Amino acid sequence: MNIIVTGGAGFIGANFVFHMLDKHPNDRIICVDKLTYAGNLSTLKDVLDKPNFRFVKLDICDREGVYKLFEEEHPDVVVNFAAESHVDRSIENPQIFLETNIIGTAVLMDACRKYGIERFHQVSTDEVYGDLPLDRPDLFFTETTPIHTSSPYSSSKASADLLVLAYHRTYGLPVTISRCSNNYGPYQFPEKLIPLMIANALDDKALPVYGEGLNVRDWLYVEDHCKAIDLILMNGKVGEVYNIGGHNEMKNIDIVKIICKALDKPESLITYVTDRKGHDLRYAIDPEKIHSELGWLPETMFEEGIQKTIAWYLDHKEWWEEIISGEYKNYYKAMYEDR
Ligand code: NAD
Ligand code: TYD
Repeated sequence: MNIIVTGGAGFIGANFVFHMLDKHPNDRIICVDKLTYAGNLSTLKDVLDKPNFRFVKLDICDREGVYKLFEEEHPDVVVNFAAESHVDRSIENPQIFLETNIIGTAVLMDACRKYGIERFHQVSTDEVYGDLPLDRPDLFFTETTPIHTSSPYSSSKASADLLVLAYHRTYGLPVTISRCSNNYGPYQFPEKLIPLMIANALDDKALPVYGEGLNVRDWLYVEDHCKAIDLILMNGKVGEVYNIGGHNEMKNIDIVKIICKALDKPESLITYVTDRKGHDLRYAIDPEKIHSELGWLPETMFEEGIQKTIAWYLDHKEWWEEIISGEYKNYYKAMYEDR
């Protein structure tokens, strides 16, 4: 099979490329990525020369470029990870989120309609369901929970999901959608909570916790997300949405404390800063559907996954130090200096 993976130079996309090359050596992976600030070709350095791998620098909004690629590669499957993915950036500047996350998804699906495809898989997020109250631990997101977004990021992802379902109903495009909870693991860009706290703690810098740090996220090790998408591609039902999550809810402050402990850094580094605008309180996925229909279960528990992740950041300092020494500095200053 020829599989186009968009956003494969980013965090989850790269982990998915590695997973697929390892588990399905007879498939050909064509990685499409615009290499925005969040895309890093060095992440893919070990696979760039593989005969069944091709990297193409391309914007998914570039209709002509996308059509040309489909003519060259005749993909059987497209897995769309490409997105602007950071909530804080979407609050500062929503426009690019609308372009990439909505228009880009439509361009890819138009190419799928024009050239034919076996499956278009949209990688979505639990954030499309909005948030749950902190005092109702009995409530979870299921696939039938209404879309109810909070941020420009989640709204753009929800818009894309609706378009994907519309292309299925209107044009019969064979689609699937997965909505996953927060991922962590190797190669996550250090603007997101876990890698940012690891990098700052290692540099003895302040650890900026938004509000009181009581917001809850449901954390999943990235490899478990990749395995779930692989299963959906193989056995998922066309037209269906699958929630992915590990029943691993944690308060932000507890995660930051775990990182301090693991790195032997004082909790006095923790600094409470102004809360994020519209900050979602709690995300929690009910993964019953993917468990009962496809037999998926998370394999890496948080205690193990967070230690593996911290060890990876310790072993790959050159990867993230290069990022935080570049243009990222300006972002960090603008986002955190007077917060
Ligand atoms: P990321 O920001 O690390 O990577 C995104 C990648 O997409 C980058 O390599 C970037 O260069 C590329 N990209 C951006 N705009 C592009 C464009 N116009 N054309 C081509 N490539 C473009 O993001 P991530 O955390 O790996 O997330 C990947 C996907 O998974 C996103 O769709 C996101 O919404 C979804 N998701 C993420 C999480 C999470 O916790 N990180 C959870 C659930 C779902
Ligand atoms: P993030 O990693 O940005 O993921 P998302 O907003 O998509 O869930 O943030 C995870 C949680 O951590 C979220 O509640 C915001 C909080 N947070 C901080 O407290 N400080 C930070 O510096 C960052 C980046 C996030």
